[in-house]
Amino acid sequence: MGSAKNKLSWSRFLGILHALMHRVNLGIVGCGTVGGGVYQAILRNGGLMASRLGVGVRVVKVAVQNRSKARAVKIPPALLTDDWRSLVDDPAVNLVGEFIGGTTTARSVLLAAFARGKSVVTANKALLSAHGEELFAAAEANGANLYYEASVAGGIPIIKVLREGLIGNQITRLYGIVNGTCNYILSRMKLEGADFAHVLAEAQALGYAEAEPSLDIDGHDAAHKTGILASLAHGFWVNPRDIYVEGIRAITQQDIRFASQMGYAIKLLGIVKKSGPVGRRGTPPVQVSVYPALVPQTHVLGSVNGVFNAVLVRGDIVGDTLYYGRGAGQDATASAVLSDLADAALDLKSGVKSRVPPFVPHERDGAVSPIGAVVSRYYVRLSVIDKPGTLAAITAILARARIGISSVMQPEAHEGESVPLVLMIHDATNANMARALAKIGQIGAVKCAPVMLRVENFD
Ligand SMILES: NC(=O)c1ccc[n+]([C@@H]2O[C@H](COP(=O)([O-])OP(=O)(O)OC[C@H]3O[C@@H](n4cnc5c(N)ncnc54)[C@H](OP(=O)(O)O)[C@@H]3O)[C@@H](O)[C@H]2O)c1
Repeated sequence: MGSAKNKLSWSRFLGILHALMHRVNLGIVGCGTVGGGVYQAILRNGGLMASRLGVGVRVVKVAVQNRSKARAVKIPPALLTDDWRSLVDDPAVNLVGEFIGGTTTARSVLLAAFARGKSVVTANKALLSAHGEELFAAAEANGANLYYEASVAGGIPIIKVLREGLIGNQITRLYGIVNGTCNYILSRMKLEGADFAHVLAEAQALGYAEAEPSLDIDGHDAAHKTGILASLAHGFWVNPRDIYVEGIRAITQQDIRFASQMGYAIKLLGIVKKSGPVGRRGTPPVQVSVYPALVPQTHVLGSVNGVFNAVLVRGDIVGDTLYYGRGAGQDATASAVLSDLADAALDLKSGVKSRVPPFVPHERDGAVSPIGAVVSRYYVRLSVIDKPGTLAAITAILARARIGISSVMQPEAHEGESVPLVLMIHDATNANMARALAKIGQIGAVKCAPVMLRVENFD
């Protein structure tokens, strides 16, 4: 037993020795939550990675905005600079990590690194969403690579899944719970019966939501991530302006309760579906959207709660596959960055910087469906005066629009002189549904603007 143990540590020692002979010198730009986590994770598991890979990663420089700021992670002063350009220019740095966020300086960091033939690891989904095509082209033109596993779903290796694990599949469906803040808020609203504003305030106090929360709760962060996943799944870079986005601000406790009574949970979903009739150029358009949807409580995505993320990917050969884990935070994100550092280190060691290219555009005719053309099922909540003829007037409008009702629920609840009326609607295009709801809203007995949420059954 003892000698086996010694043998193991001897082989590990040899691995580390070998790795020291092949070493990648990393410069980290940005040392906050993510950059600090990466620095610590390399200290903790860098030796393990080196023995597994035969190549080591060593941090040789760290650029921050304010060198004298107190930091939870202790960085040797000799490594620190407040001049990111000197880090990128430093001949000793042969790989750059960008962890500052935003789309302005971060873009300059990436372009400057590529111009010097240096590959970059980033966690920056906003940057990729806004400038992905330009950055991939710049990396390729300069013989460099761009690694971005940490940009989507934190610790879940979903980029690797799409670019490598499922490379032999046509991706027909992808559903993601990719924003932990929204999932935390919706989970607490459901489990505790609390209101949106109350849970948001608590999430902000606990650090699960930003003081300025709109990037998360209005769905933009989920849209950045969903756009990246859609692009990888369908081979054309999705313009963020083409993604239909609705956040969770308008979700009420009442809707969560009624949905629950019918067996549904409400989740903010990123949805990527190849669907609809074949377009002008012969390629079916792809639905790429982010909105709160009713999902069956019995479906596995219906029980993903708290800050956790999950992504369901359906391939035409593999069928359904599911990935679950922590979608943000220092350690989960550092784990994804370590995976990129390992790939980058191996690429540098073997001298093939784009063994797995960051993104391969191959669907020249790819297009995103306008939301109006997307077919969904719906939950509709109306506030109506309880008098004869109201339901008949509503169903007549839906019948004229050829929209089918699958069930009607009139919960026992009064809102002043009005009562809620909940309709579950069969498949209809979003455009058709919007027109019908506009007419329903004009009926005298319908008191407020109709509430409409889409229903996702994952078929
Ligand atoms: N936080 C997460 O859980 C998470 C998860 C996945 C992805 N991400 C992404 O990771 C990136 C970083 O997020 P974060 O949460 O780590 O941000 P953060 O905590 O605010 O850290 C930002 C870091 O960038 C540095 N910085 C800002 N401007 C700079 C400049 N011009 N030159 C040099 N350094 C500069 C700051 O320096 P000082 O320390 O001196 O102020 C700080 O160290 C973002 O793109 C974010 O979307 C974050």
